[in-house]
Amino acid sequence: MGDSDVARASTRRRRATFAAVRSASLLPANGKSAAGYQSSLPAGISSFNGHGKPDCAPETVGSVSKSEKRKRRSDTGDRLSCHKTQESLLSSASGYNNYRGILNWCVVMLVLSNARLFLENLLRYGVLVDPIKVISLFVNDPYSWPAACLLIVSNIFIVVALYTERQLSKGSFSEVLGFLVHCTNLTIMLTFPAAVVLLVPSMTPVGGAFILGTYTILFLKLYSYKDVNRWCRELSTVKAKKLTRSLSCPSAQHPREVNVCYPGNLTIKDMYYFVFAPTLCYELNFPRSPEIRMSFLLWRLCEMMFFTQLLVGLTQQWMIPIIQSSMKPLEDMDLSRMTERLLRLAVPNHLLWLVFFYCFFHSSMNFSAELLRFGDRQFYKDWWNSETVTYFWQNWNIPVHKWCLRHFYKPLLRKGFSKIVSQSAVFFLSAFFHEYLVSVPLRMFRLWAFMGMMAQLPLAWIVSTFLHGNYGNAAVWISLIIGQPFAVLMYVHDYYVLNYRQETDTHTQI
Ligand SMILES: CC(C)(COP(=O)(O)OP(=O)(O)OC[C@H]1O[C@@H](n2cnc3c(N)ncnc32)[C@H](O)[C@@H]1OP(=O)(O)O)[C@@H](O)C(=O)NCCC(=O)NCCS
Repeated sequence: MGDSDVARASTRRRRATFAAVRSASLLPANGKSAAGYQSSLPAGISSFNGHGKPDCAPETVGSVSKSEKRKRRSDTGDRLSCHKTQESLLSSASGYNNYRGILNWCVVMLVLSNARLFLENLLRYGVLVDPIKVISLFVNDPYSWPAACLLIVSNIFIVVALYTERQLSKGSFSEVLGFLVHCTNLTIMLTFPAAVVLLVPSMTPVGGAFILGTYTILFLKLYSYKDVNRWCRELSTVKAKKLTRSLSCPSAQHPREVNVCYPGNLTIKDMYYFVFAPTLCYELNFPRSPEIRMSFLLWRLCEMMFFTQLLVGLTQQWMIPIIQSSMKPLEDMDLSRMTERLLRLAVPNHLLWLVFFYCFFHSSMNFSAELLRFGDRQFYKDWWNSETVTYFWQNWNIPVHKWCLRHFYKPLLRKGFSKIVSQSAVFFLSAFFHEYLVSVPLRMFRLWAFMGMMAQLPLAWIVSTFLHGNYGNAAVWISLIIGQPFAVLMYVHDYYVLNYRQETDTHTQI
């Protein structure tokens, strides 16, 4: 082998392992095994072609091209040196980050372990899924439909808000009177359905939670409607003073769309578009998608139906038996068994929450957005990568976060309140609504949801101060996986103790 070949071989020593493996794989191409090929080499360093003949020998077969010869020479060089300075893949210094296979392994393990849980559950309890029984969760008495009646009544509040805004735009109502009417309307919106849920015996907890959820969404929407129309009036006044174009009527984003200007937006059609649109923040001219994509719409509809059934099935088959078997340890204050039940509940509870997230924030919101050609589809961001609790609350429920920022947090900051006071106020408001949506339908006040929400502030501080990167992300996941079933167990336990003590006792004895 010439000097140049030696030099080329030493250069190639620095090549990646992949290249070495690739060249090694070329060795047996002549029909010999690698070992056999190795043994055919004469002692000493010399370059050979694949047939064990010296390189300098004239080619007997003209078919062996120059590039092939070069390749074989490089193979020989690679065979001489197979090491280089490098880190093990699992060392962080290696810079390696492709863990796709590990992720697949996690998924396989998850499926296998849950399949075992699923089988165990089936063997122990039999099939408990009963879609017909779900109706009884909404209706106690077939002749009394209080939740449906409340749904119809909610239109009155919508019409009152629209009427008030129209009077304000015409100047028939003063700003103070308009504000008072809006405040009264919004207060009744929260108190009236709560009173019905508390006082009407035929209202079930699920029906109550559904209707209070609907009224809460409407409350937030009408609050936003009131604010935005007031801002438009303020802008009109500024415009009148400065004789400039009103910002309440921005130019059209789509050539086919005709933009609405204040007070042209104060119509029944505009109001109901907002009521059904998947947003809590009102705007005179929402961004619109060009057309309804039928396949997208049908796909979301199928997802909604499938995931709703899955939610019902998982609750009946997996959640309820665990909750029922947790009552006794909770009553006896048996700490170790309580912890075991809590951890047992954590898995189905978390799975349900994830399915709910996808079903609500992706399937149903996209469905209504597609149907209404509502353009802004950012209903959630990548909350699953949250390394801080703050990031989680900024990204998991974008409609609520947007409303909080626009109508509560920023107005407080503008009024001169500090950031921490404003954040605490937002979490206080959120805690109030969480408690309202749980305690009223269950007809008992325990403040678990309220405390859970308020605990987010110190938790956010602890996580951001002491845990970073993947540790922060793990802390957010743990708080979600453990925190929720803890609150669920507390409420369900208190509810069972209040309503079904006898029934629970017989279940636990079994
Ligand atoms: C409290 C909360 C609103 C804080 O949000 P945040 O994004 O951390 O707030 P920040 O301090 O980073 O500021 C956000 C915005 O206010 C603006 N801002 C900051 N100081 C300001 C000031 N003095 N005046 C006006 N705006 C200000 C920022 O520029 C930023 O604007 P941008 O969004 O346009 O970028 C948020 O944590 C939250 O939504 N919490 C409740 C969530 C909840 O309960 N969800 C229920 C889901 S079930």
